[in-house]
Amino acid sequence: MANGSVVVVGGTQGLGRELAQSYAGEGRDVIVTGRDQARAETAAAEIGGSTRGIGFDLAEPHSIAAALAEVGAVEHLVLAAIERDVNSVRDYKIDVAVRLATMKLVGYTEVIHVLLPQLADDSSILIYGGLARDRPYPGSTTVTTVNGGVTALVRTLVIELAPRRVNAIHPAIVGDSPQWIDMPAERHDALVARTPIGRLVTMAEVVEASRFLLENAAINGINLPVDGGWLCM
Ligand SMILES: NC(=O)c1ccc[n+]([C@@H]2O[C@H](COP(=O)([O-])OP(=O)(O)OC[C@H]3O[C@@H](n4cnc5c(N)ncnc54)[C@H](OP(=O)(O)O)[C@@H]3O)[C@@H](O)[C@H]2O)c1
Repeated sequence: MANGSVVVVGGTQGLGRELAQSYAGEGRDVIVTGRDQARAETAAAEIGGSTRGIGFDLAEPHSIAAALAEVGAVEHLVLAAIERDVNSVRDYKIDVAVRLATMKLVGYTEVIHVLLPQLADDSSILIYGGLARDRPYPGSTTVTTVNGGVTALVRTLVIELAPRRVNAIHPAIVGDSPQWIDMPAERHDALVARTPIGRLVTMAEVVEASRFLLENAAINGINLPVDGGWLCM
């Protein structure tokens, strides 16, 4: 029997939504969040079942406690939201960098802080990082930095929140995700050429790996690349 709901922060689209859909399809109570209340409610209705939507901005961390006040027991907490910036040290845009760093490091942590009373000892938390952590590209300075921060966050949370489990998933570029589905063929082919499985990883594969990290009671403190062998190249 489930001990609570599945909460997916950043569950209105992309990988978070795909994961929310997989739990909702099994009849689980699911909550999806995004920046906007109406959009979150629309996404929840489209996902179906007993899914609920909540809107709040992770880059405004003081607003998070009130937004999550009515959330009851949580079995699996997923932190998947992102607002991408394109940033380099030479052409540094402070405002977008502050938003991304705030939402993924302070905002994610504040969500956990607020929901901690709702997370039983056998609950689990999954944080989405990404392989820009290990494979920077021009413009990835903030993305690379926050994904490195996610790796460190897992380690401190495992200690602070024990016996609750905390893991992170670090996908390579997910070819069929909304963010990348329309990328130029030239870029797609260059990425495939550097991926030993000969194709980009898929949303379904990321969902399967996410569920393993959330549900296997022995898995704790793992930062799992899901990359088709990209890191070996
Ligand atoms: N897609 C990939 O190939 C890939 C690769 C590596 C890592 N990742 C990681 O996987 C996670 C999901 O990526 P994705 O591409 O699936 O995301 P996505 O499609 O861009 O969706 C982003 C989600 O985050 C929410 N969001 C954005 N800014 C927010 C804010 N300030 N406050 C609260 N919610 C906010 C969005 O909600 P609204 O739009 O409704 O506000 C949406 O639900 C991210 O952490 C990303 O770093 C993805």
